[in-house]
Formats: sequence, C-alpha cells, structure tokens
Amino acid sequence: MEKCTNLAEMKEWCRAIPKIELHAHLNGCIRDSTLLELAKLLGEKGVIIFADVEHVIRKCGRSLTECFQLFDLFHILATDHETISRITKEVVEDFAAEEVVYLELRTTPKNNEAKGMTKRSYMKAVINGLRSVDTVDASFINLNGKTESFCEPMQKSCTTCMEKKKIYVRLLLSIDRRETTAAAMETVCLALEMREFGVVGIDLSGNPVVGEWDTFLPALKYAKEQGLPVTLHCGEVSNKMEIQAMLNFSPDRIGHACFLDEDDWEKARLSQIPVEICLTSNLRTQRLSSIHVHHFANLYNANHPLVLCTDDTGLFSTSLSNEYYLAAETFGLDKKDMLQLGANAIEFVFADSEVKKAIREIFRAFERRLTDEFPSWKS
Ligand code: IMP
Ligand code: ZN
Repeated sequence: MEKCTNLAEMKEWCRAIPKIELHAHLNGCIRDSTLLELAKLLGEKGVIIFADVEHVIRKCGRSLTECFQLFDLFHILATDHETISRITKEVVEDFAAEEVVYLELRTTPKNNEAKGMTKRSYMKAVINGLRSVDTVDASFINLNGKTESFCEPMQKSCTTCMEKKKIYVRLLLSIDRRETTAAAMETVCLALEMREFGVVGIDLSGNPVVGEWDTFLPALKYAKEQGLPVTLHCGEVSNKMEIQAMLNFSPDRIGHACFLDEDDWEKARLSQIPVEICLTSNLRTQRLSSIHVHHFANLYNANHPLVLCTDDTGLFSTSLSNEYYLAAETFGLDKKDMLQLGANAIEFVFADSEVKKAIREIFRAFERRLTDEFPSWKS
C-alpha cells in the first residue's frame, strides 16, 4: 500500500468520490445545530432544562455510557412525528452533499403513547421525511413497488432533476437490545409490511451489554425465513458465546466486529460475511487502544469483504468522507484503493439487482469522467 503524501488532496478525493453508506443510525446522525435547536425549544416549553443538556450535546470524545445517555436524550428531543420527518430529510441531504450515492439508513421504530406514536406511525414519519427531501433527488420505493423519486418520472428536460445530486435510500429497521421477543417480532413484521417503502432489512443494535441473544433469535430467524436480510452489531464488547451464536446464525453482514478471536475470524472468513467498519465510532467508544491496531488492516490485506461506514455522524462528529480519509491516511491507501474500496461495497448492499446496476453505473461514469479529464490517473 503506497502512502499518499498529499493529505489535502486525499481529503478532497475522499469527499469527491461516490460512496456507499451501509451503517448509519438515523437518530445518531442528527445535526448538532438541529439538536441544539430542539433542546432550546423544549427548554422554553419547560420539558427539559436546556443548560443541563447543552454541554452534553457539545461534548466531544464521549465514553460508551455517555453515548447511550445521549441516545436517551435524543429520544426525548425527537419524539414527535414532525421532528422525525425533519431529521430524516436532513440526514439524507447531508449524506448526499458528500457524494453518498446509496444510503442504507437504519432506525429503531418506537412506540410513544403520549405522542400518539406507534412503530408504524414512526416509520410513516420517516417515509414522509424521505418524500420531503427536495434539495437532492432521493430515490426510494413507493406503494406500487416502483421507484419513487422527488422528481419522478425523471425527465430529460427537467433541469432541476438533472442538476440535483441523486441518492438511493433504503431503510433497515433496528431491533433495540432492550426489547422483548414480542417487540422484536413486531419490528420484523413491520419491516416485511414496509418492503414496498424501501425497507430492505433488519438490524440488531443498542447497548451491547444489555439483553440476551436468545431473546432476539426468534424474530431474526423469522426475518431470515421471509427472505429479509439481517445485519448484526457483533462483537462490540467481548462476549465469546454471543459472538459464536451470531456467527452460527450466518447474518448477511456484521457491524464493528471488534472482539472476534482468531477462530471467530476463521468462521467469518469461511462464510465471507461482509464487515461494516466504523473507525471513529470504535475509537470514540474506546474499543481499541489506537487506530493503528484496528482490524481494518488485517481484513483489507486478506481481501475480506468490508465497507467503511460512519455509525453515527452526529454523535461522533464524523462523515463518510472523513472515515475514508482516516482509513487512507492511517493505512496508507492511495486514490485508486479508496475508489475501489467504495465500489466493492456495491456487492454488499441489501437493495435489489436493479439498484446495484444503477450504482455500478454511477461509479463507472465517475471513472469515465476521470479518464477523460486525467488520462494518466489509472497508470
Ligand atoms: P435510532 O435507531 O434511529 O433511534 O438511532 C439511535 C439508536 O441506534 C441508539 O439508541 C442505539 O440503539 C443504536 N445505536 C447507535 N449507535 C450504536 C452503537 O455504536 N452500538 C449499538 N447501538 C447503536
Ligand atoms: Zn451501529
């Protein structure tokens, strides 16, 4: 791997290349400015004391416990349908702005009786948020199973369509590790029902020291039986039994994988399970002593399927471009390596082959443009 000497150039390259985001939690990606605005508003209404939460929101370098405390705060700030729609819109626009061309956004459907919110109405608010995206052309799936886009049908003569950045958005429904078997099953059933709205899979997440694998297994098995892909937060903490059980389940992808032993990796290698790598998240939550000992390097050198992701852009003050840059700078990857790394992720998306074909074409078009402008870039 050749070290890139011009770091500023590499930073710009990581921003400019098309990228695929497969591990981003909706509420973990709220803009700081939006969080502060929501907190101020609730402070004025007397629901919270703004001064108590301001420093928590502004704090950098949170511990794992503080991160989950902050999620509880997020859930107080973002409990009504309107706010959920607004956050969804902003998150999609933020990813599109940094050349993310395919986004698999995950979120935990929530019940909130006081706000008249059910898991279904929560998801409707998310879909409404997707519909309200107007600064970019967000493509998801509508009721008829056809791709719905803000500017659909795409008209060659529509200059607004042609000028807007295009982003494919698909959704994963998360099961929170605090949930019961019945609640997990409810989420899987909702995901199956909402396939027509671009729901393409299930995620298991939440505080890794909470809950038991056996609680979620029936719902995850059901998802699998129904042909709904599953990704698991796996090995975020050291828990040998759970890691083995998760790998035996043969998930379609795993996230983090920080505490896998050699025999676990052997199993993951044999089944070629793609790994969602979240460098900044792992560092901030103190999974590793240093980025230089991150398992990214071993996986990359072994050609194991992997994809760079953000986890929570808001919580960890990062972006996908930043994660790419961090990988390039730390592990000495060059421009071509980074573009290839991004393109490799097409094979791991949960969307159908038509979408994969469309994203492949976006990457090809980018390469064609480069070859035209800089004929020597490939050599
Ligand atoms: P939401 O599902 O849209 O509400 O996004 C926030 C939720 O994602 C949190 O409450 C957690 O359950 C989950 N989450 C976000 N980051 C992490 C992580 O690093 N590990 C495990 N779960 C996470
Ligand atoms: Zn995560």
